[in-house]
Amino acid sequence: MSASENASGNDPEKKGWKPGKRDAFFLAFVAAVVVLLVLGTGDRTTKPTPDDVIHQQASSRAACMECHSAEGVHPQPKRHTKADQCFQCHVQPGHWAGAR
Ligand code: HEC
Ligand code: HEC
Repeated sequence: MSASENASGNDPEKKGWKPGKRDAFFLAFVAAVVVLLVLGTGDRTTKPTPDDVIHQQASSRAACMECHSAEGVHPQPKRHTKADQCFQCHVQPGHWAGAR
């Protein structure tokens, strides 16, 4: 075995493709772009909870539903979700008094 054979045998450039540092960076970059696109199109399009005294004081779902159930003064739309966490979709008022 000559020295030169040994050297080329150990040369990583000639052993076919293996993910290297630069590939990892590229993949991370692609993943970041995908995540940004998904988050970007997933922007909240629901109406924020108004930041007025009524909404700042309403500190539970039950309180919200006194006005926003079908019998309330401002019912949710007919096919509205039954989900409890209002602020998951309707941004919480900046000066909200509740605990959640
Ligand atoms: C005392 C009655 C009352 C309570 C309690 C109440 N709301 Fe409202 N809400 C209203 C009224 C009236 C409107 C429509 C007029 C306005 O924008 O203030 C409204 C509007 C909204 C809107 C739509 C805003 C828009 O731009 O059209 C959302 C979302 C909302 N409320 C969420 C909530 C949530 C979440 C809670 C509980 C934290 C809550 N409300 C508690 C009376 C109430
Ligand atoms: C899973 C997401 C989601 C959750 C959780 C949610 N909502 Fe909504 N809500 C919507 C969407 C979507 C609409 C359609 C109109 C819009 O874009 O705001 C809507 C509309 C409304 C409206 C009518 C707004 C208007 O004046 O046009 C009210 C009032 C409302 N929601 C109250 C509530 C309350 C109170 C809660 C908690 C009990 C709640 N929502 C939880 C998604 C949600």
